[in-house]
Amino acid sequence: MIPFAKPIIGQEEIEAVKRVLQSGMLAEGKVSRELEKLFADYTGTKFATVTNNGTTALSTALEAMDIQPGDEVITSPFTFIASANSISMVGAIPVFVDVKPDTYNIDPDLIEDAITDKTRAIMPVHIFGMPADMKHIMEVANSHDLLVIEDACQSHGAEVEGKKVGSIGHVSAFSFYATKNMMTGEGGMITTNNEELYDEILMVKNHGRGKQGGYSHYRIGYNNRMLDFVAAIGIEQLKRLPEAVKQRRRNAQEFDDFFSEYESIKPQVEDQGLKSSYHLYVPRFYSEKMTRDEIVTALRAEDIGSRAVYALPCHKQDTYLNIQKWRWAKFIDYPDYSVVNLPISEEIGQRHFDIPIHPILSSEEKEQIKNAFAKILD
Ligand SMILES: Cc1ncc(COP(=O)(O)O)c(C=O)c1O
Repeated sequence: MIPFAKPIIGQEEIEAVKRVLQSGMLAEGKVSRELEKLFADYTGTKFATVTNNGTTALSTALEAMDIQPGDEVITSPFTFIASANSISMVGAIPVFVDVKPDTYNIDPDLIEDAITDKTRAIMPVHIFGMPADMKHIMEVANSHDLLVIEDACQSHGAEVEGKKVGSIGHVSAFSFYATKNMMTGEGGMITTNNEELYDEILMVKNHGRGKQGGYSHYRIGYNNRMLDFVAAIGIEQLKRLPEAVKQRRRNAQEFDDFFSEYESIKPQVEDQGLKSSYHLYVPRFYSEKMTRDEIVTALRAEDIGSRAVYALPCHKQDTYLNIQKWRWAKFIDYPDYSVVNLPISEEIGQRHFDIPIHPILSSEEKEQIKNAFAKILD
């Protein structure tokens, strides 16, 4: 089976981990500081700090922004559930706004209608590496005095008008989960240009400790720290990221060209000014002869690692249909998610599937993928 993801782990990563293990200094420290500096430079942000995963990067950032129980945070329903769950974890209410049919990202034109006097923030998700329409999202946010937290967990290296994602909103979160464009197994990063917010983030992620460390504590916080031998993997992965993103984009172009011959396959579209980092390549399937699930099964029978990752958008997941079971529901009036209709997300949920796009796909593997489509569809 050609896997949908294949992390590049070279001798560099192995040696880097070895050096940290041999140093005996395993916990978050100087190697993490180096990764933070390199990542801030890469994304073009002033401040970056590591976390133990992308979910805690999001929830730490939300808590540091003082998002309170009962506040509303507008986000996309067409995402990995961690986006919505990070909002719920801090007691806030995820308000799902539908997405655009070609980019699969939150539709800025629909955000305005979802804003209430409880809305505090917008969390756009750059899904599958495709940047959300940040220009319009920032305009809506600024005109309503809302904070913006970019969920960049899938989009390391993606760009909006020449700027890296993670540098546009007030704060952003990245994941370094094992399958991501840049990975450390588990891990995450928060970026921001706001020093006050950065200071708060450092405290939330580390038991309310101030910048100076030690045993003085200033607020309730967590242990969301990274390990230095994990950060060491991150440094080596970050060196590989620019070329890996270029190769993902070349693979995407090759598949876009190939699928232009097929009416039934509609790839995700890059709007003007947006540059996807193609974490995943996810077209939609429209055919009267075959269902989406049948094409996924047929591709898997040809040894192509294909899936329909968000067949159930967040508002259709049991988590949100049963939100009354969540601990905060005793104190907060949640909406009835069962009556939420988001037709575009639901339609994409029914139509999408992925095929491998990772940067070490060989020419033979790409041919195998194309031949599989030719066999199944012609
Ligand atoms: C869009 C999105 N948000 C948040 C997360 C959470 O990241 P992690 O798995 O590192 O906690 C992920 C991870 O897959 C994700 O894809």
